[in-house]
Amino acid sequence: MTQDEAKLLVAKRAVEFVKDGMVVGLGTGTTATLFIRELAGRGLKIRCVASSDASHALAASLGMSVAMLTELPELDVYIDGADEIARVPGLGFGLIKGGGGALLREKIVASAAKSFIVVADSTKLVEVLGKFPLPVEVIKMALPVVQPRLAALGLNPKLRQAKSGGAPSAIAGPYLTDEGNYILDCACGRIDDPQRTAAAIRAIVGVVEHGLFLGMATLALVAGENGVSEVRP
Ligand code: A5P
Repeated sequence: MTQDEAKLLVAKRAVEFVKDGMVVGLGTGTTATLFIRELAGRGLKIRCVASSDASHALAASLGMSVAMLTELPELDVYIDGADEIARVPGLGFGLIKGGGGALLREKIVASAAKSFIVVADSTKLVEVLGKFPLPVEVIKMALPVVQPRLAALGLNPKLRQAKSGGAPSAIAGPYLTDEGNYILDCACGRIDDPQRTAAAIRAIVGVVEHGLFLGMATLALVAGENGVSEVRP
């Protein structure tokens, strides 16, 4: 099974957790996109809140009822992918998210939901977080302050660049989030104490949010060769 096939399989399973009448949080990224498309195809009577402009636009284009968090501040379930998923002793699941750049809104929408189902192919399940660079969202003008402080923590931060090439209008330069901030990708290696790392990053003035989602996911749906497993924290 290819990674794309696994993503589609898990997206289809995730739809089964959504029932008529629910307020559903829509994630961001390739797996979440497949989930949104599957969900739209079911024709359920649901209302949604998206965690990025891209997912909002996709859901709206598919005819889904999608509103802002201001209109629907309480969600039944949030369903989204992850870059890494690990069990963290005493905390439940620890995730790295933000590879797609939407970590801030993702964390906000996830925090507004009664449950958070993380959907992934089995390559995302790891023993220890940190192989995937940890994204940290930073206020633009704070970059010269925050970057050296993250470096001093040994986190090896690198400013994310917008994808260039392709269309003639493609914009080169630093990547900007939906909130107009920069992202520093921290190739820090294994994160043995995610709570400590999260607290150290959070303590730096100018950091808006980081991609460590600790104790937030309530269930992981993981697709591999044997189908989809329901993994509990
Ligand atoms: C988006 O900002 C991310 O948090 C994604 O949820 C994460 O990167 C997983 O993306 P894929 O489903 O594309 O692997």
